[in-house]
Amino acid sequence: MKIIVGSDHGGYSLKCLIIAHLEQQGIEVQDMGCYSEDSCDYPVIAKEVAKEVLLTKDRGILICGTGIGMSIAANKFKGIRASLCNDTYSARMTRKHNDSNILCLGERVIGPGLAFDIVDEWLITEFEGGRHERRINMLELE
Ligand code: RB5
Repeated sequence: MKIIVGSDHGGYSLKCLIIAHLEQQGIEVQDMGCYSEDSCDYPVIAKEVAKEVLLTKDRGILICGTGIGMSIAANKFKGIRASLCNDTYSARMTRKHNDSNILCLGERVIGPGLAFDIVDEWLITEFEGGRHERRINMLELE
């Protein structure tokens, strides 16, 4: 599985640590930016990652200062289920019940150790399907 990652300047440092954490495990990473701590706009990066996740069916990780802006922006895209998680329980459950395809993190909210645990839990947990499949399909109806 390839992981598509993106951040704004507020999430850049944590993104670099998470890329190293994933690559140490032999996981392929595609970095859609940003590429420095220079100020940039999180909706631009969220759009790039969301489009790539929809195209490739891989999963994505988006990081900004709070994780909130990234989650709002990514969830504008039909088929994206972006989950802001500050704890491992939420990371596990959003995979089991929501088939989350983008994980959002806030660099200014959690430390790297917890972020690594959240990422690992979110990556290994499978979607349960069943009644949850029906519910996520309802998210697309309008
Ligand atoms: C950037 O200062 C900050 O607003 C951004 O990283 C994010 O937290 C927005 O939701």
